[in-house]
Order: sequence, then structure tokens, then C-alpha cells
Amino acid sequence: MSPETPLDNLSHENRSFAPDPAFARDAVAKESLYAEAGEDRLAFWAAQARELLTWEKDFTETLDWSNPPFARWFGDGRLNAAYNALDRHVEAGNGDRVAIHFEGEPGDTRTYTYAQLTEEVKKAANAFTALGVAAGDRVAVYLPMIPEAVITMLACARIGAAHSVVFGGFSADALRSRIDDAEAKLVVTADGTWRRGKPSALKTAVDAALTDGRSTVENVVVVKRNGEPVEWTEGRDTWWSDTVETASAEHTAEAFEAEQPLYILYTSGTTGRPKGILHTTGGYLTQAAFTHRNVFDLRPETDVYWCTADIGWVTGHSYVVYGPLVNGATQVIYEGTPDTPHQGRWWELVQKYGVTILYTAPTAIRTMMKWGEDIPGEYDLSSLRVLGSVGEPINPEAWMWYRRVIGKDRCPVVDTWWQTETGAIMISPLPGVTAAKPGSAQVPLPGITADVVDETGAPVGDGGAGYLVIREPWPSMLRNIWGDPDRFVDTYWSRFEGMYFAGDGARKDDDGDVWLLGRVDDVMNVSGHRLSTAEIESSLVGHPAVAEAAVVGAADETTGQAVIAFVILRGSAANEDPDAMGETLRQHVGKDIGAIAKPRKVLVVPELPKTRSGKIMRRLLKDVAEGREVGDATTLADSTVMNQIAAGFAK
Ligand code: WTA
Repeated sequence: MSPETPLDNLSHENRSFAPDPAFARDAVAKESLYAEAGEDRLAFWAAQARELLTWEKDFTETLDWSNPPFARWFGDGRLNAAYNALDRHVEAGNGDRVAIHFEGEPGDTRTYTYAQLTEEVKKAANAFTALGVAAGDRVAVYLPMIPEAVITMLACARIGAAHSVVFGGFSADALRSRIDDAEAKLVVTADGTWRRGKPSALKTAVDAALTDGRSTVENVVVVKRNGEPVEWTEGRDTWWSDTVETASAEHTAEAFEAEQPLYILYTSGTTGRPKGILHTTGGYLTQAAFTHRNVFDLRPETDVYWCTADIGWVTGHSYVVYGPLVNGATQVIYEGTPDTPHQGRWWELVQKYGVTILYTAPTAIRTMMKWGEDIPGEYDLSSLRVLGSVGEPINPEAWMWYRRVIGKDRCPVVDTWWQTETGAIMISPLPGVTAAKPGSAQVPLPGITADVVDETGAPVGDGGAGYLVIREPWPSMLRNIWGDPDRFVDTYWSRFEGMYFAGDGARKDDDGDVWLLGRVDDVMNVSGHRLSTAEIESSLVGHPAVAEAAVVGAADETTGQAVIAFVILRGSAANEDPDAMGETLRQHVGKDIGAIAKPRKVLVVPELPKTRSGKIMRRLLKDVAEGREVGDATTLADSTVMNQIAAGFAK
């Protein structure tokens, strides 16, 4: 394991953009936050928790770290997440404020005020309760980006059930394994959605996931979205329109303890089995709200915020659902792809709704760069005032394009580093405070103690490179891996004594600013989506034609990384046309895990590069996949293997 530097040009980047004085003067975030948090970190977070959230019962203990790495934040406080995201805004007289401007891919629109959204969530809470869901239960959510997704998540939170959202692009098998691991009682899905104008089914995957009748799932609630015909299992399936829409809109939110599980979200790790990351209520909401407000300079009365992430990912949890709604923000939710029906769709939406804060991923920015600046140039983007980036390292070129073409050199760009596990933003410039450097996430937020250490855990200091770690517990940290505390300890807390190890390599420049360098483990990042090499390898060897497989993430201009697989075929499959086999295997992975995991290329090889002890040397395969001279291969058992593979790849 060694930090790699996929973004070599970073070390030459020395531009910096000081905050605009007018912006700085009125900025929500104040420089003094750093000093305040530095003086007393726990007092700082306690103050944020009290300022940003409404507690039914105040807490007396901020952090219990007596049994590390199992943290309890605000342990004896009680609150309800949905009440904080909804009812209290209505009670404060802001019921008429728009919570959601929804835009469907086909162009249908719906608007929900805070009062209306509260009513819908109350109905859903009553409906789920009537279906037997109680506090502590788990609910699987397999929905497109439609308001019902937000309503479902908040309804679960309201009744103390944990949601487990599974990205709609994942396959039936992936859905099943997540349902089983969480032992979900209810699944909320839709008949389908649209992808680039074409209907795309969801309910069929739920049916396929539940075919054997041995699942823990008792009910499936189905939102009618695209009107495609669906199979129906009587006694199990019910329509949202029959169950939720007819339910009573009277519901009083009960407060739960701060450590009540709020959700499980599965993410890829270094082994084949996804990890159920567990987040709880009080600490998570505190940091989601704090970061959403300060990193985006949020003014809930006037801003129109848009985060383009899907609720299937953590960004959709913290920065579509919890952060913005707890802060009482007005936001845009868009169901479809950026190029449907045309490549200006996003900018058309920015113009239409007067979006002021945009939060998206580098892969999207690079795609838009490829499409050309004439396209955003056709729209009025003058409402924008803050731009955010998340999900993968942003190369300085993309950062500069984002600032110049979308932000007209006016809007601060914030590159935000965090993970499913961290729950909320951890490292980011603060707009109006930090002089921003293109391609750097720069500074740990107030109250966060991030550092870069070497192999032995010693700080590398300014100018050094190594591993990104977090030294002290933070409010929105993951609390556990669902059902697997040993794996939790082992995965995150055992590499460096007493520190959380994030899995990322990083560098500190001479000013002490942090530059993220990508994963140092076997996790790939494709279009900002986390995929594990082991998970895809295990899918490949699950195919009868495959004897062995090795997967690497190769640098890709648009998607950050692309999945490249090398396979050895078994038996008679070895006589098949290798190109056709490659294609069959690509489709197999797509069906097995989901379209996002489909390798860009599956290369049939006679042998894989292995050390004498039998370990596959992925580093060498990566050299081939990235078109580099193959590195040191002297430890290979058979040194001719790499020549054959490189020749095959070049063909
Ligand atoms: C990467 C997404 C560089 C990183 C919120 C991390 C980033 C993984 C950045 C987590 C960034 C996220 N700069 N790399 N600003 N943001 N990453 O769990 O490798 O889907 O470990 O959470 O994405 O991905 P996840």
C-alpha cells in the first residue's frame, strides 16, 4: 500500500483566489470558528448542536469516548430528525417556504412547501406504522430521485426506523444482499423511472430480489412513477397512492435518543462484501447542518440550493435530505441525466429556478467541459454565488473551468472532502474566509482534526505526503458497520494506533493545505462512485467461464477512474472468441452488481502477474491499463507474463 499520485500536476499548482471582500464581509462562516473550535472542540460542537437543532431534551454529556472507537455524541439528549427537518420550520412561521422544487426527467414539475412536505411525511409515517414498521426496524428504499424518496427517508426517521437506501442503478442481487444484511421489513420502490428518455424499471428488481419468499421483507410499497406495467404479489405489494396518500396527516413526532440509528448506507470496501455504514441521529444532524450552512454560505430565506447527487449515495443523504432540510433551505431536485433531452438541461434548471448554490461532482464538470462552454454560455447563470465539488479529487483544470465558465470568476469554489463513513464534510475551504487553491480541499473544518501521516503514523509535516487520518472523534462519524463491530475496528481503527484511517493518500503543501491524492487501497472511484476491485473480481469469477480475475482502476479523463478487468478463462471457454467473451463478462458484471460496475474493458489473458507467493501484482496491470511502461516486475514468478498481457492490451 503506497500513496500514488494520479494527479502529478498538482505539485506545480500555485494559483490562489482570495475571497471577494464584499462576500467576506457578509459571509456566514467566520474565521473565528477555527479559534473557537481549537480552544475547546467539544464545547464548540455542543454549541453547534444546540444552535442548529431543536432538542426535546437537552444533553448533558457531549462525547462519550470511554470505549473507543465506539463513540456516543450528545448521548442523553433526545430529538426527532424529521421534526428538525420539517415541523419546527412550519411552527416558526416558514410553512409557506418552498422546500423542494422537483423537476422530473420528462419535464413534469411539483413544488412542496415546508408545510406540504411535513404533511406528506406525516402521512407516510402513519402508513409505515400501519404496515408494522416500528422504531428500530429497517426499511429498504429503492427509488429514483423523486420527492417520495425524501418523504420516505424522513418518514422512517420520524418513527425511529432506520432507512437503508440502495442506489436505483444497483442490480436485484445487490439489492437482495443489502436487504438481507439489514433484515429490512419494508421496501419502498417505484414502478420505474426514466433514463435518457427511456423507461427504466425498478419494481422488477425488487421482485427478483424477493422471489424465494424467504426474505425478512413483509411489505413493498410502490410509487407509480412511469406507469410501466408491474407484476403484483397480493398481500405483500401495495401502491403508495392507496397506502400513503390515504393515510391520516395527523402525526406527532416522538423524540428518540441522540444515538438512535438514523440510517444504514452500504459502501464498497476492500473486500467483496459491502459494508453497512451506520449513522445515528444527534451528532450526524449537527455536522450535516453545520457544514451545509458554513461551507455553502447558506441563507435559507433567499438561497436556492441544488445538489445534483442521487439519494443512493451519502451526498444525497447529507446534502439533499438532512443538511438542507434541517437548515430550512429551498432546493431543487432533478430526476434525470444532465443530457436529457439536451446537454444544457442543468443550466436551463439553474436559470429556471434561479439556483444560487450548486454542489456537484468533478466527473460531471469534466463531462460538461467536454461538451463545450458554449452550452452553459446559452443560459443565464448570474444567480449562482457558491459552487461546490465532491466525490473525487478535482483536477485544477476542471476547477478553473468550473470557476470561470459556470461561476464567471465571481463565485467561490469549495472542494469538499469527506466519505460515507465521515457522514459530513471534513476538509474544505470556507467561502469568504479561505483563499482557494484550484484542486485542493485545503483545511480541516473547525472542530475536525485531520492530519497526514507516514507509514509509522508520524505526521509528515508541511511539504510531505502520506496517509490522511482523523485524530479525534467527530459528531457525524460512522458508529459501526452494521452487525460487524470487529470489521469496524479492523477496517478503520487498526492501521494507525488511535486514529481513524480514511483510505486516502494526501499531501500537505508548504502552507499546510491538504491535497487529496486518491485511494491507497483497492477501492476505485468511478464517476465519484466507490467500487471495490474485490467485489468486481468476485462477480467475474462467479461466471462459469472464468478461472481467475484481476481488476484495476485506470485513470480516465472524464470518470476519474475506469474499471479494467483481466481474466483467465476456464475449460472450453478458453476456445471462444476473446472479444465476445469480454463483452459477455462486461454484461455479467452489469447484471450482477449494476451498470456502474461494468468494466470498460475485459481483457482475456493467458496468465496473471503473480509473485512467487501467489499474490497478484495489480500495480503492473495498472501500468498496462494506463498505457505506461510496466514497472519493476522482477518479483514475478514468470517474468514473461507481463509482455504477453501488454501486447494483448495494445491490440
Ligand atoms: C473520494 C463521497 C478528493 C475519496 C462523499 C473518499 C474525494 C471517497 C473528495 C469517499 C474530494 C470524496 N477530493 N477525493 N473532495 N471527496 N473523495 O464514500 O477517495 O462515496 O475516500 O463519499 O471519495 O467516497 P464516498
